[in-house]
Amino acid sequence: MSSANLANQIDPTVVFGFTNLPENRQREPLRIVRGKGVFIYDERGKDYIEGASSFYCTSLGFSEEELIEAAVKQMRELPFYVTAAHRSVPVVEELAERLAAMAPMKNAKVAFAATGSEANDALLKFLWYHNNASEKPKRKKVIARLGSYHGGTIATASLTGWVKYHAGFDLPMAGILHTEQPDYANLAAPGESEAAFADRMIDLLRNLIEQEDPETIGAFFAEPVSVSAALALPPATYWDKLTALLDEFEIRLFDDEVVTGFARTGNIFGCETYGFTPDCMTVAKALTSAYQPLSAVIMSEDFYEGLERGSAQAGMFSHAGTYHGHPVPAAVALRVLELMEERDILGHVRAIGPHFEAALAALEDHPLVRGSRAVGLAGAVDLASPSIESGTLGAEAAACAEANGLFIRPSGDTIVMAPPLIITLDEIDEMFRRFRLALDGILEGSRK
Ligand SMILES: Cc1ncc(COP(=O)(O)O)c(C=O)c1O
Repeated sequence: MSSANLANQIDPTVVFGFTNLPENRQREPLRIVRGKGVFIYDERGKDYIEGASSFYCTSLGFSEEELIEAAVKQMRELPFYVTAAHRSVPVVEELAERLAAMAPMKNAKVAFAATGSEANDALLKFLWYHNNASEKPKRKKVIARLGSYHGGTIATASLTGWVKYHAGFDLPMAGILHTEQPDYANLAAPGESEAAFADRMIDLLRNLIEQEDPETIGAFFAEPVSVSAALALPPATYWDKLTALLDEFEIRLFDDEVVTGFARTGNIFGCETYGFTPDCMTVAKALTSAYQPLSAVIMSEDFYEGLERGSAQAGMFSHAGTYHGHPVPAAVALRVLELMEERDILGHVRAIGPHFEAALAALEDHPLVRGSRAVGLAGAVDLASPSIESGTLGAEAAACAEANGLFIRPSGDTIVMAPPLIITLDEIDEMFRRFRLALDGILEGSRK
């Protein structure tokens, strides 16, 4: 795990992402060794509620035997075979058909990958290929939104709208642009109505498109609701106006459903919650409840035809990956989709969502809480304190929550909660009991 040198310093071999690397010489990681339902346990046996589903993934919790069985069964039958070059494995085709049938586009086509980043990266690559084959070679630029995360590859870290993911890595790459996040809770001007704020966001985007030349913009990349931007709930009129603007300039809409997909927002896909139909979408994470790495690009028939044209011209579609459509993750994903139906997970999210939202709202009586918001089983709490440095409260709340047996995701002065979708009413109450203890702890500390 780690070795200690003479000065008793820790010297970890693993490069831990999303940490300050030198700190890892002073700080051991928290080692998680077991999971059950919505709980996980560290090596000392302490339990935690995973209030953020471990990077918003484990929708069916940490101990779903059916998924383990599905993986083992597939491993026994055929642990691996590549799906490319005129070879296939039935379970992969079955999953593709199922995903295509679930997606809001007609006759959708599915390209598999392993991670969310890889799916988003592939989609960008497909856009360029499509446009080259469709006599639109100038339409290569892509617009994403500030504050949203889309992945860690060169292209998807570029799409990610945070300077901290670019700095030092020579990113963003050319041709990736960012517009404002429709984060009404944090970005609205004093007295600005939701509708006026949405109009302002759309005007900003229009200006950017016109300034860059609409004929050079290929796609707009966005989550339906950006959970990665601390659950920036868009105003009610935002998506209608956005899709009208994109249509006006013939810009494709790419929907990143890596976090929102598979019932998180109270519909199977977030685009249903916000009432739009994308050209293409990407899914990952909850697709397998994260028990196996798998992601997919789901594309409209019309978009796919551009790939076919390019391939016909070139003689081959020169894109594949050894693990793109690995049979074991595919078998797990199929079982996830079956379980979601058999157990009516969507119905459960809809039934329990109001309780979750009410529990968030009930926190607003706490002196550290500035506001809260929720959609489905994703929620955020904005924190504020005159005696604590702004921008650090989320991390402090997450640390105190961890001490009280709860994992949540910090983002500036906000924390995000998105527990496994199987969470019960009692577990929601226990999650908020632990969170309130954490807030009380911070408040007490700040008064000393
Ligand atoms: C919205 C969104 N898109 C894409 C990704 C990238 O997925 P992955 O980490 O599987 O590469 C993430 C990861 O958190 C995400 O939140």
